[in-house]
Amino acid sequence: MTVQETYQNMKARLGDIVPDPELRQKAELAYEIIRLREEKNALILAHNYMEPALFYSVPHYTGDSLELSRKAARTDKDIIVFCGVEFMAETAKILSPGKTVLLPAEKAGCSLATGITAEDVRALKEKFPGVPVVTYVNTYADVKAECDLCCTSGNAAAVVKSLETDTVIFLPDEYLARNVARETGKHIIFPGNDETASDYQMIGWNARCEVHEKFTTGDIRSIRSRFPDVAILAHPECSPEVVAASDFAGSTSAMIRFVEETSEPRYLLLTECAMGDNVAAANPGKEILSMCRIRCPHMEQITLESTLDALRHNQYVIEVPEDIRVKALRSVERMLAIG
Ligand code: 13P
Ligand code: SF4
Repeated sequence: MTVQETYQNMKARLGDIVPDPELRQKAELAYEIIRLREEKNALILAHNYMEPALFYSVPHYTGDSLELSRKAARTDKDIIVFCGVEFMAETAKILSPGKTVLLPAEKAGCSLATGITAEDVRALKEKFPGVPVVTYVNTYADVKAECDLCCTSGNAAAVVKSLETDTVIFLPDEYLARNVARETGKHIIFPGNDETASDYQMIGWNARCEVHEKFTTGDIRSIRSRFPDVAILAHPECSPEVVAASDFAGSTSAMIRFVEETSEPRYLLLTECAMGDNVAAANPGKEILSMCRIRCPHMEQITLESTLDALRHNQYVIEVPEDIRVKALRSVERMLAIG
């Protein structure tokens, strides 16, 4: 494929979304990335939050955390370039230790992953002995290593239901935990806040996604008053009040499928804004409303420019100490088995 053909492909999808001069410049970067990815036998995985020009040009696969973990576990390529945040690239390394895993940013964190430490988990296990610990995949490897199994937004309730015990520790996202508690009919407590409670089946933690916590029921009321026929989709990292006031809640890929499979006149996606642009590009006949330009400050560090640098300079290599990797792998594999 030539640079011109790469540009034409991107133009067909993104002509209404990315200004033409920018598209021409991005097509040159994409062309070079595609050339290098073949030369180096690299697999490119991209999360649904990647900017449109990247999302629609260079990845072999796009998806939510669960789908990309599955792809990372199965590849026979030598290198995995993970266009997402650090905990996602780390999960790829946990699953594929023999591969070189590259994150195209020196540090692309996540407020949930930094919201809990392995020491916090050990303290909780001491306080609630014998209670199984489920951790959201948005955590670092040393935290996963302390837990019994992982989940993503795509299978959180299924993972909790799969456990044989009445009580479960669910970390670290307060809002996802509250949403799962509601869906599974469990009463949730938070250490430090509900010390005297005795009737509970879930124990949560107080970390939050710095992007999704910004959406409010006031935003929903205001958009519904202007567009009464809007379908509102929320990510389960939003507060339970926001989820309850929405028409649908699910992982990033579940939201994408919802728009594809329904025919509402207009949609509002309460999640990272780049995904709204990607959904708009794939559904030209449907109006995707945008309330604001909320981008995840970590996801937005990954661009075509940084992905090209990653391939050119073999950066930034993700490493996980083997003793931690082996323990974390158990939790991740149990998650993948549940689906
Ligand atoms: P998904 O697994 O739904 O893609 O979500 C990942 C994430 O970080 C959302 O903020
Ligand atoms: Fe983490 Fe929120 Fe960014 Fe997702 S959107 S990576 S949960 S900070």
